[in-house]
Amino acid sequence: MTEVEERLQELRQKALDCRACELCDTRTNVVFGEGNPNTPLVLIGEGPGANEDATGRPFVGRAGQLLDQVLLENGITRKHIYICNVLKCRASIIENGSVRNRPPRTSEIAACMPWLQQQLDIIKPLVVLCLGAPAANLVIHRDFRMTKERGIWFTSSYARYAMAALHPAYILRQHDEAFRTARASLVADIDAARKKVIELKKEPKEQPKVEPENLSLF
Ligand code: URA
Repeated sequence: MTEVEERLQELRQKALDCRACELCDTRTNVVFGEGNPNTPLVLIGEGPGANEDATGRPFVGRAGQLLDQVLLENGITRKHIYICNVLKCRASIIENGSVRNRPPRTSEIAACMPWLQQQLDIIKPLVVLCLGAPAANLVIHRDFRMTKERGIWFTSSYARYAMAALHPAYILRQHDEAFRTARASLVADIDAARKKVIELKKEPKEQPKVEPENLSLF
């Protein structure tokens, strides 16, 4: 196990016992995140749904299947990347006797943020792709406007570059031409993220700076 893998594993163990917000009372599993901890590319979604809550794995429902398809169209599998969410536990509401997903509350996001922050501190990705506005609000900037700002590169304190793409669950709610356009935009954004990683990896590594004073020592 690499040091990064070990640190992430330790963090996961701690997260599994998290009781920082009330979602711990209704969750089945903490969905910490998974994939390649040594990756340059991290994808961040909103939070677990029913399937993720049941399995403890991110993006395994219908949205996850769509995500896997569009990743594969770019030659990417889950072994190449790391996937996690803003919220590690499912945010749900009971409506007419059935349990439905609901948007995360500000207090829940704040309570969960330290986990994401530590994940990114350990992985140190070159590029983060935010799937949907909640991740973009945290990683890129507050009041992120998906319609205006998706597909644009931003610098971020969590990665060299971050960009937001449409959330696969949003894409699944579109029909006909709107669905095809939204899906194509996610394919294009993942392609852009892949290319950004390649571009950044090609950059020459910074040489350690040697101060003129030090030179004079020799
Ligand atoms: N939607 C998300 O944002 N994350 C998941 O893990 C699943 C669905």
